[in-house]
Amino acid sequence: MSEFIQPFNQFNAAGDLTHLVTLEGLPREQLVHILDTAQQFVSVTDPSREVKKVPLLRGKSVFNLFFENSTRTRTTFEIAAKRLSADVINLDIQTSSTAKGESLLDTIDNLVAMQADIFVVRHSVSKAPIEIAQHVPPHVHVVNAGDGSHQHPTQGLLDMYTMRHFKKDFSGLKVAIIGDIVHSRVAKSNICALRTLGCTDIRAIGPESLLPSDLDMLGVKVFHSMEEGLKGVDVVMTLRIQKERMEAGQVPEGAAFFKQYGLTQERLGLAKSDAIVMHPGPMNRGVEIDSAVADGPQSVILNQVTFGIAVRMAVMSIVAGN
Ligand code: CP
Repeated sequence: MSEFIQPFNQFNAAGDLTHLVTLEGLPREQLVHILDTAQQFVSVTDPSREVKKVPLLRGKSVFNLFFENSTRTRTTFEIAAKRLSADVINLDIQTSSTAKGESLLDTIDNLVAMQADIFVVRHSVSKAPIEIAQHVPPHVHVVNAGDGSHQHPTQGLLDMYTMRHFKKDFSGLKVAIIGDIVHSRVAKSNICALRTLGCTDIRAIGPESLLPSDLDMLGVKVFHSMEEGLKGVDVVMTLRIQKERMEAGQVPEGAAFFKQYGLTQERLGLAKSDAIVMHPGPMNRGVEIDSAVADGPQSVILNQVTFGIAVRMAVMSIVAGN
C-alpha cells in the first residue's frame, strides 16, 4: 500500500499546477481552488443554458488515451473538453499502433508532434501517467484518468465536490468506504483528499483480504463488520469488486460478499437518516449494493456523474493555465 505515500511534483517552476496525476500531497488550497472553480463551471453545464460552452481552451487539443475501458470518465472528459471549446481526439487504442507494439512513450512523442496540449490518460499500469508527465515537454499537461490501483484523482475530486455539495463541511463528517479498497484507485484518491480537507472520521469496511494493511497509519479506522462500521456515518461509499486486478482464488464469490458486505436498505438504516450513498461506478448490483439502495432516495450516484463534468472542466482549465 506504499502507493499512498508517493507524492509527485505536479507543479512547474512558477508554482502552477501543470499536471494532475495524484491527490497525494496536493495542498488543501489547490484542492479547494479546483472545487470552487468546478462550482463556477456548474452553471455553464446547466441544462437551461442555451450555449453550454466557454472559450478557455479554444485552439487547444485534448487527447483522450484510454488503455483501459471506461464509460463515465472518458465521456465526461470529452464533454468537459468540448464545453471548454477544445478540440478532442479520442485515440482508439485497440486500432492504434499500440496493437503493433509501439511503446507508450513513442506514441506520446508522435501525439506531441501533432501538437497535443493535454493528455488524459487511463492505464492499467500504476504510475504510467507519471511516466508520461516526466517525459512530455513543459507546455504539455497530463491528467490521470485512473492508473492501475494507484490513483483516480478526478474521481476523488468529484467525490469531494459531491460530499461538499450535500454535506457542506468536512471537519465533522463521518465517511465509510466499503469493499475492495486494496485494489481501488478511487478509495486511495478519496482517502488522500478527505485527509487533506480535514475529515477525521474515515472508516474502511471489508474483509481483511480486501483492505490494505497500512490504513491505520493514515488514520483510517478499520472495520470488518458493516453493523459496526456504518453506525452514525454521513457518507456511505461502496466500491466495485475489481476482479481484473485480483488473482484467481482472491475473487470473493458475489452472493457471499453481498451477505456480509452488501449495502442493503436495512444496513443503510445504521447510518444517519440523511446519509448519502455514493458509488464511483460501474456498479455490481446484488454484489456490493442492492438496487433498492442504488436507486433509492439517499443515492447521489448519478449526481456524482454530472458533477464530474464541471470538475474535469476545472482540472483541465487549471492545468492549462487558465
Ligand atoms: N468511475 C469510473 O472511473 O467509471 P468508468 O470506469 O466508467 O470511467
